[in-house]
Amino acid sequence: MAVLLDGNALAKEIREEVRRDTEHLVSTRGVQPGLNLLLVGDNPASDVYVRNKARDCEKVGIRSTIVRLPADAQQDEVLSIVRAWNADDDVHGILVQLPLPPHIDEQRVIRTISPTKDVDGFHPDNAGRLLIGLPGFLPCTPAGVLEIFKRHAIETSGKHAVVIGRSNIVGKPLAALLAQKRPQGNATVTLCHTGTRDLAAHCQRADIIIAAVGVTHLIRAEHVKDGAVVIDVGMNRLVADDGTSRLTGDVDFDAVVGKASAITPVPGGVGPMTRAMLLMNTLLAARGGPEA
Ligand SMILES: NC(=O)c1ccc[n+]([C@@H]2O[C@H](COP(=O)([O-])OP(=O)(O)OC[C@H]3O[C@@H](n4cnc5c(N)ncnc54)[C@H](OP(=O)(O)O)[C@@H]3O)[C@@H](O)[C@H]2O)c1
Repeated sequence: MAVLLDGNALAKEIREEVRRDTEHLVSTRGVQPGLNLLLVGDNPASDVYVRNKARDCEKVGIRSTIVRLPADAQQDEVLSIVRAWNADDDVHGILVQLPLPPHIDEQRVIRTISPTKDVDGFHPDNAGRLLIGLPGFLPCTPAGVLEIFKRHAIETSGKHAVVIGRSNIVGKPLAALLAQKRPQGNATVTLCHTGTRDLAAHCQRADIIIAAVGVTHLIRAEHVKDGAVVIDVGMNRLVADDGTSRLTGDVDFDAVVGKASAITPVPGGVGPMTRAMLLMNTLLAARGGPEA
C-alpha cells in the first residue's frame, strides 16, 4: 500500500514555520509581511480562493488586503491599482486572482506586477529565472510539489518523471524544475499533453507521475508501474445526478493506491501545499526577495 502524502499535515507544518518566522521578522526588523489581493468580477470559485488565501495570511500574522472590482472594471483601473501597489513599501506581495474577465489582457496585468512582488511567480521575469536556474519566485503549485518531495525525502535525481499537462502555471514550470541540476530535480523529464501519442506507454515507464490535466481519473492502474510515486494536481468538480458535487483528481486514487509507493490524495494533497507556498513566497518577499 502506498504512503499517503498528506498535504494538509505538511501545509500545517509550513504555516507554523511561516508564523514563527513572521513573528521574528516583526520583532527584529519591524516588518510585517503584507499581501494585497485583487479580485475582478464575481466568479464564486475565485471569491472562495481569495477569501481562503486572506484567511491563511491572517493565521500566520501576514497582513492581507482584498480589493474587489466589478466584472466591467476597465483594464486601466486594474493596471493603476497594480502600479500603486508596486510603489507601496508596505505591500510585499501582489496577487491578481485569475482568470480575469475576457476584456482584460491577463498577460499585460501579470507583466505590470513588479517581479519582486510577484508571489504567484507568473511574471515572465520569474518564469525565465526558473528556466535558467536563477533565484526567483516559484509558482506556488510546482513549489508545493517540490516541497512534498523534499519533506517526504522522495528522491528525484536520476528518476524518470512524467508530467502530464503543459500549462504555464503548473506543468511547464514543474517539468523545468524537475530537470534542473538541483535538489528535488536532476530527473529525466517527459512532458505529456493532448498531442502525446500513447500516454499510457509514457506513464508506464515513469518512476514519478505528476498529473496536472483537469480530467477526472485520466490516470488509472494500467498507467502506473509498481512502486511509482504519483502526484495528483487535478482539482475537478464532479456533479452527481442528485446535484451534489465532490472534488476529484486526475488520478483514480482507489485503483492506483495499491500499485504506487506514495500518492497524494484529492482533496488534501497538492491543494493545501499550493496555499502554503503562497505564504512562504510572501514571507520571502517581505524579507527582501529570493535573492536576499
Ligand atoms: N491543486 C492545486 O493547487 C491546483 C493548482 C492549479 C491547477 N490545479 C488543477 O490542475 C489541473 C490542471 O490545471 P492547469 O491550470 O495546469 O491546466 P490547463 O491550463 O487547463 O491545462 C491542462 C493541460 O492538460 C493537458 N491535457 C488535457 N487533456 C489531456 C489528455 N487527455 N491527455 C493529456 N494531456 C491532456 C492539456 O494539453 P494541451 O496543452 O495540449 O491542451 C494542457 O496542457 C486542473 O484540474 C486544475 O484545477 C490544481
